[in-house]
Formats: sequence, structure tokens, C-alpha cells
Amino acid sequence: MKSRWLSMTAAAVFMVAAAGQASADENIDLAKKSGCLACHGIDKKVVGPGWTDISAKYKGDAGARASLIEKVAKGGKGNWTEVTGGVPMPPYSPRVSDENIAKLVDFILTL
Ligand code: HEC
Repeated sequence: MKSRWLSMTAAAVFMVAAAGQASADENIDLAKKSGCLACHGIDKKVVGPGWTDISAKYKGDAGARASLIEKVAKGGKGNWTEVTGGVPMPPYSPRVSDENIAKLVDFILTL
């Protein structure tokens, strides 16, 4: 039973890799390099909300991807005041390329 589950997992990992998506490690490296992890834990609040909390908040919200990309590019506050006490998210464009901002938001939404 367990080994069957493991081989299914391995197959799923292989399919994701074969589809050419960045691995979780690459995304975490990109987040580190971009400075995001100074304020965000993957699954816990630091200064900003934990990324798994962000993903949970926007689950099923079709417009979330575009508005989160804009928020990371331009900065802003107001969506997490009860968690952050009103600290703003800094603007990241053009320090981080639009392509990498989109990659980071896509990664966060998969968490
Ligand atoms: C100086 C601290 C800081 C850094 C560095 C930082 N963030 Fe944030 N981030 C915040 C805060 C504070 C919020 C909450 C903003 C709010 O209340 O709407 C936030 C919110 C967010 C949100 C949710 C936005 C929303 O409207 O719900 C995303 C997505 C996000 N950050 C991604 C990133 C990414 C990607 C990086 C790196 C490129 C990054 N953050 C770097 C502080 C930071």
C-alpha cells in the first residue's frame, strides 16, 4: 500500500518536472534572492502573512492572480491589517522582473 502510494507520488513528481515547471526549490531560491523571505514565512507570519495563509485566503478566487501580481509589483496594504497591524507590502517592480513576480505569485497560490 505504502510503496504503491510512493510510486504514484514519484510519477506525479515526474509529470510536473516533465511539464517544465520550476520545482519548489527553484521557487524558494527565487523568493530568497528577491528578498521576500525577510518578511514572509512559507507557512508562518513574519512581518507579512505566511504564504500558505495567502494561498488559503484566495483559493477559488479567479481574479486573485492578477491582483496579487499587481500588489507585489506596486506594493500596498489593507488586505492583512489584522495580521500585520497595517504594515505595507513594498513595491517590487522593476527590482524583480514581471516574469519573476508572476512566477512567485503562481508559486504562492499552489501552496
Ligand atoms: C518588508 C516586508 C515585506 C517584504 C520584503 C515582502 N512582503 Fe509581501 N507582504 C508584506 C506585508 C506587510 C503584506 C500585507 C499587505 C496587506 O495588508 O495588504 C504582504 C502581502 C503579500 C501578499 C498578499 C497580498 C494581498 O493583497 O493579499 C503577497 C502575494 C506577497 N506579499 C508576496 C510577496 C513577494 C512575492 C515578495 C518578494 C518579491 C514579498 N511579498 C516581499 C510584507 C513584505
